[in-house]
Amino acid sequence: FDAKQFQHDLISWFEQEQRILPWREDQDPYKVWVSEIMLQQTRVDTVIPYFHNFISKFPTIKHLAEADEEDVLKAWEGLGYYSRARNLQTAVKEVHETYGGIVPNTPQDISKLKGVGPYTTGAILSIAYGVPEPAVDGNVMRVFSRLLSIWDDIAKPKTRKLFEDVIRLVISNENPSFFNQGLMELGALICTPTSPSCLLCPVREHCRAFDEGVQDELPVKTKK
Ligand code: ADE
Repeated sequence: FDAKQFQHDLISWFEQEQRILPWREDQDPYKVWVSEIMLQQTRVDTVIPYFHNFISKFPTIKHLAEADEEDVLKAWEGLGYYSRARNLQTAVKEVHETYGGIVPNTPQDISKLKGVGPYTTGAILSIAYGVPEPAVDGNVMRVFSRLLSIWDDIAKPKTRKLFEDVIRLVISNENPSFFNQGLMELGALICTPTSPSCLLCPVREHCRAFDEGVQDELPVKTKK
């Protein structure tokens, strides 16, 4: 596996083919954070109007920290999983009070915030701050299980750590933001759960599952 060539092919493709999405307009850590929390259990198309509305009501950390919880939940209505909204406001208050409104830029500090797990930590650090941290969710595990023909069960909690270790070895240190977003975009547009579009894939030369013809058998995911 040629990591340098892979980084180049993935990032070039992302630069050309990425969807125009509202949270990609700037690298404001607060907006990256809000978008990643919304995207955790909700599809991109559903999130877009909610993201616009939420950011227009609460444009900054300070606005959200000082908002009434009722208004925050109102803006979340329809997205579901309301604990996400409550945890987000709790964490944003912490950033407002403890860090002067600046989202911290170390894995240690970010991951202490309520509702911010390893995936969101990696997403914020890489996209907003250019720190080469993996951001591993189910989509990224699917992409990498195929690329490297990894047959570990992605439903097992331990497996995410394995993928983090693998991605640390191959992530671009020059452009971790586009590297991680490229993986997300590849999982959304090409390396889909069923019928992946391998013939259109920008990194199929690097893909062991494609080479072996087993892309439809990966990832391994048992029911919990
Ligand atoms: N899914 C999770 N994070 C995403 C992002 N930043 N862009 C598109 N889809 C995503």
